Amino acid sequence: MRIGIVTAGGDCPGLNAVIRAAVRKGVLHYGNEFVGFTEGWRGLIEDLSMPLNLQTTDEILSRGGTILRSSRLDIRQVHGGYVKCMQTMARHGVEALIAIGGNGTQAASLALTEVGVNVVGVPKTIDNDLSGTDMCFGFDTAVNVATEAIDRLHTTAEAHNRVIICEVMGRHTGWIAACAGLAGGAHVIVIPERPIDLDDICAQVQYEWQEGRQYAIIVAAEGAHLPNTEWASPSRKLGGIGVALAKVIEERTGYETRSISLGHVQRGGTPTAYDRQLATRYGVAAVDVVNERRYGRMVALKNSVIVDIPLEDAVAPPRGVDAQLMGVITALRPPALKYSGLS
Ligand code: F6P
Repeated sequence: MRIGIVTAGGDCPGLNAVIRAAVRKGVLHYGNEFVGFTEGWRGLIEDLSMPLNLQTTDEILSRGGTILRSSRLDIRQVHGGYVKCMQTMARHGVEALIAIGGNGTQAASLALTEVGVNVVGVPKTIDNDLSGTDMCFGFDTAVNVATEAIDRLHTTAEAHNRVIICEVMGRHTGWIAACAGLAGGAHVIVIPERPIDLDDICAQVQYEWQEGRQYAIIVAAEGAHLPNTEWASPSRKLGGIGVALAKVIEERTGYETRSISLGHVQRGGTPTAYDRQLATRYGVAAVDVVNERRYGRMVALKNSVIVDIPLEDAVAPPRGVDAQLMGVITALRPPALKYSGLS
């Protein structure tokens, strides 16, 4: 069987590990042949491809990005996109497609499945918010990058008696903020799942001064927003939620405040060992599902085991930070803090 692989949406450390694993298992155990469609769905619309075999996927396990490149082009928005995709696949003799991507990609995969294209999905997003799986590869790397940055911010914040806000990625959910915030010992963690209560944040900051620490680290997910302000919906043009919070917190508490945004640093570079092995397990599982001709499925991690689920289950609304993790965040701060105005 000839199989196509596409990586779509924002890139993510571990994409190359999935590609390598799928090709190795497919070639060595099923006698499959592979074609890589490049630049995300654009490759299937415009017939852009590259050969995928044991040679072209050698030595890519630890490389970030994707040898197939990616784009945010959504095949569902392209006039005649599904037909063009089928024509491209037919031209290459490709029977099935492995689509590696996040929410948008899996929604597009489902739409293609519904018009008769054979697709198997692999969950990818550093945001870790895809439904139906306990974990997306790339998330662990992003958390590690953010944690290292937060560790570094502690010392400079302490040296200057400052509040420093570290804005991390997470468009709809606060998984990176929650996990890196906990790992990095942040004093305040701000996530979109919980409305921002400025009095509460200022009270926590003030507590760090009253206790003699005299600095505070706040980790905020980019998707969090400040209601009733110009930052009511997150906008990078305005500098994002980190800039907004810094301005308001400094005004309210009188403590010197800075903000930094980690941005794409979290998505670049070499994947962690965890992400390499998770991505490899996904790649192997995806090629198994394709060879069993069970299409319209996405491989997923459930209770530490790789399974496959209907694509419908993956395209449910983004999976937010769960109550237990939120409980851990709350457990580390004193209850019932009250902000008492300028310090
Ligand atoms: O892929 C997810 C993500 O990294 C989000 O966390 C972030 O909001 C977005 O992508 C950034 O997208 P782009 O690279 O297109 O600016």
